[in-house]
Amino acid sequence: MQRKIITTSDGSKTIHIVDWDEQYHSKHGAIQEAYHVFIKSGLSLFKNTSVSILEIGFGTGLNALITLIEAEKYGLSIEYTGVEAYPVTSLELQELNYVSELDASSFEKHFLKMHECNWKKSSAITNYFSLHKQQKYFMQIEDQDAFNLIYFDAFGARVQPELWTESIFSKMYQALKLNGVLVTYAAKGSVRRAMLAVGFRVERLPGPPGKREMLRATKIE
Ligand SMILES: C[S@@+](CC[C@H](N)C(=O)[O-])C[C@H]1O[C@@H](n2cnc3c(N)ncnc32)[C@H](O)[C@@H]1O
Repeated sequence: MQRKIITTSDGSKTIHIVDWDEQYHSKHGAIQEAYHVFIKSGLSLFKNTSVSILEIGFGTGLNALITLIEAEKYGLSIEYTGVEAYPVTSLELQELNYVSELDASSFEKHFLKMHECNWKKSSAITNYFSLHKQQKYFMQIEDQDAFNLIYFDAFGARVQPELWTESIFSKMYQALKLNGVLVTYAAKGSVRRAMLAVGFRVERLPGPPGKREMLRATKIE
């Protein structure tokens, strides 16, 4: 499928899937959305501790980069697993402007290292942050009681409805530790009901710019 780089409302770039008219991030601001959904509504629950994170859709690495920056800021130790079936190309990577938009030039080498590191094993990106990228389909995830936090960042249900079903959320539930949390930008009723059906407690939270609500699901037993 044809992918092209576009600029979102906060000045940060994202990838547009032409055939689906779908983006990797919100058109209202890629960086703003990533901070709101994944850091403010997810990672910030886990201050002063070690956190294992599973990302559903590693994509451009934006969520991983802002998580690494937060880890340095708060002295959090993070083990990050990013699952992705269709990695970005090095040409796409060159066009993304996250390091400059985040005013984070000291992290440029870490962002590059994230993209260059091995897909089959965990790599230390900093003293605080290790990354294990896995090139596979989400349906192949079989982890049990492994993660504190899931960043569920698949394309929307409009274009990939099969990724927002009970069978996927059941895998996510299994993969989380007790009291583990899944955050997503989505707020659809059918998504919330699929999460409830597999046992999650689900909260509706204020959404990022351009979205009224988002969902946070917790594994309570
Ligand atoms: C919304 S984008 C993720 C954006 C990413 N979190 C970021 O910060 O750039 C969704 C990602 O899921 C990947 N993807 C789509 N279907 C998939 C599948 N069935 N299994 C694994 N990855 C898939 C896409 O290639 C894309 O990178």
